[in-house]
Amino acid sequence: MKVLVLNGSPKKVSDTFRLTEAFLKGLNRDQKHEIKVINVIEKRIAPCRGCFGCWQSMDGHCVIGDDQNGILDDYRSAEVIIWSFPLYCYGMPSHLKAVLDRTIPLLKMKMVEREDGAVQHETLIDFSKKHTLVISGCGFPDWDGNFDALRIMCRNCFGDPDMVFVPEAPLMNVPQAAVVAEPLLAKFEKAGEEYETAFSLSKETIAALEAPMIPKEEYLRNVNGE
Ligand SMILES: Cc1cc2nc3c(=O)[nH]c(=O)nc-3n(C[C@H](O)[C@H](O)[C@H](O)COP(=O)(O)O)c2cc1C
Repeated sequence: MKVLVLNGSPKKVSDTFRLTEAFLKGLNRDQKHEIKVINVIEKRIAPCRGCFGCWQSMDGHCVIGDDQNGILDDYRSAEVIIWSFPLYCYGMPSHLKAVLDRTIPLLKMKMVEREDGAVQHETLIDFSKKHTLVISGCGFPDWDGNFDALRIMCRNCFGDPDMVFVPEAPLMNVPQAAVVAEPLLAKFEKAGEEYETAFSLSKETIAALEAPMIPKEEYLRNVNGE
């Protein structure tokens, strides 16, 4: 099975990607899958021009001749697509959002109404055979609403994917926090194993992955140096 990982952290040492790596270790424990990680920050991806040239040619490619067409090829051939990125201003980092915007060559102009009344574009490729997972780490401790905007966007763009949103993610790269980070990494590895067999994560697993590593008050005290 082909797994495409879009790593949207611009950092060499990413808090979120540590979690994603552990997940991939579990998912590919038998080394039988083809995993391709794209560090999006290293690619040349211009913003979408909004020209809809892709909907003239309908060949699944973008008229801009940068690295996005290679990503679209990988996207088409992958069975599992993992979006791994830090939460930036309640959404995706802009360089990754450019990749998402420029997946519209995989859609058609034709609009269809879903049973729930929502409207979406017909797709050029069969997305029903693809599995999408979103893993995002953030700097705030757990609070209602931090991931709301991202959750809605991912639901609408990816058709109800599995989503794992991790608060207090900077603890992943703080040596003194290894005592709480290591158990979380182990949970991510186990979750990767679950995903490999089920192509989804149970509610219980997601809740365990999203549970704060330390209490909010303690996290805030540490961040604020109090
Ligand atoms: C520009 C910018 C915007 C951010 N916005 C948010 C935010 O809206 N909510 C939040 O909890 N953390 C926010 N953060 C913190 C990051 O999500 C956090 O540091 C994360 O652990 C970084 O992950 P990475 O190491 O994988 O890049 C922001 C960080 C930056 C640099």
